[in-house]
Amino acid sequence: MLLGDLYLLSMDRIVVQRSGPLAGEVQVPGAKNSVLKLMVASLYSAGTHELTNVPAISDVKTMGKLLESLGLTVEHGIGESGVLRLTNSGTITTVAPHELVTSIRASINLLGPLLACRGRVRLDMPGGDDFGSRPIDMHMAGLTAMGVRFDINDNALSAEVDHLIGAHITLDFPSVGATENLLTAAVHADGTTTISNAAREPEVADLCDLLVEMGAKITGIGSACLTIEGVPRGALHPVTHAVIPDRIQAATYLAATAIAGGDVTVRGARPQDMQVLLSRMNDMGLEITAVPGGVRIVSQGRMRAVDIQTLPYPGLATDYKPLLVTMLAVAEGMGVVTENLYPGRFRYVEELSKLGADIRTDGHHAIVRGVEGLRGAGVVAPDIRAGAALVVAGLAAQGRTVISGIEHIDRGYDDLVGRLVGLGALIERVDVPVTQGK
Ligand code: UD1
Repeated sequence: MLLGDLYLLSMDRIVVQRSGPLAGEVQVPGAKNSVLKLMVASLYSAGTHELTNVPAISDVKTMGKLLESLGLTVEHGIGESGVLRLTNSGTITTVAPHELVTSIRASINLLGPLLACRGRVRLDMPGGDDFGSRPIDMHMAGLTAMGVRFDINDNALSAEVDHLIGAHITLDFPSVGATENLLTAAVHADGTTTISNAAREPEVADLCDLLVEMGAKITGIGSACLTIEGVPRGALHPVTHAVIPDRIQAATYLAATAIAGGDVTVRGARPQDMQVLLSRMNDMGLEITAVPGGVRIVSQGRMRAVDIQTLPYPGLATDYKPLLVTMLAVAEGMGVVTENLYPGRFRYVEELSKLGADIRTDGHHAIVRGVEGLRGAGVVAPDIRAGAALVVAGLAAQGRTVISGIEHIDRGYDDLVGRLVGLGALIERVDVPVTQGK
């Protein structure tokens, strides 16, 4: 996390004790995986763009700094919390600074809009959570079909195009990032672009909705085939848009209640975006109901183990998986977990084992044998979602669970601790800031 000239090394900890039953209501903030891409869309048009329901997370700050480095002005929480204003004066540079690009995965989303608006871009390969190799071959193949020339040197990517040309592209796999980069480039391409086997994630649909509100011509939104009619540069205009609620944060409060027991309503959760997850939770013996404006969970007694596998939307999101593995760790019976998106995404299992979980991994499978209870220990958050899963695990652990590495959690969670305290959890954040020169 880079702030000005200082590298802020967080020594903060989250301390959790066995808790429950949880009770009450919790409001879900806007989705990280949506807002970062919506922010980038402000590159298309001069004027002031306004996003509402913006989560207070550090990735939004990083993306704000990245866009400021390209020439935008970004104001957060002016007048009202959750509001972000991005002002584009019409003058934008196309070279993104190394430290910011390598901090977040979503920096790759600069590619499509900068090629569409300026015809060139230069960035280092993006960072983000480390789930193993995260290639961008599908982004490049699709953009190449639209006329873009790439040059990759020493992990730095340069791309150029004179005129983007509409193309018919079929993705090998419904990649979220590739779909977003292709559709954002196609917005100003000459003619029609179709993207078949497109990602159908609600966050992709949210980006399409914003672009249409700005004046883009996109049909098939939410389906596996997107059609984009290019419009001339300068045809898009700023709008005010509300970010969709974060289904992964919503799932975190459902998992917390599942583990600690209780009766909680997650306000803002959209059951239509979480159908497979909610049905698996039902299979585990949890009472899940859609209520006006949210989802209610009632958890009594011990959960039953089920088998799960991650898949592109509408399948079970890989980002839910650490939470589900944690639930299985204390459920009755054995569950087999299959990861189909990121083979390396089982790193947190070692940390869960320190709490007494019985999990064996083999390639992209994990076998989880439920235990009656966990025991507190010191653990390290390896990434955003796994960090949240360790917090949730601490709710079922005797004694104190102390989680470090929580700058990962801050990247994607808006006041996780405060929200859990509001539900009655025994949890606190211990702040120990240490700053060092860069
Ligand atoms: C986004 C989300 C991330 C989520 C993931 C899958 C953001 C910022 N991140 O990541 O939280 O876990 O979707 O739902 O929105 N792949 C290739 N070549 C490519 C592109 C992708 O092989 O050109 C592979 C990836 O390595 C991975 C799989 O496809 O194995 C899915 O990646 P993708 O859907 O692109 O995920 P991201 O957009 O990076």
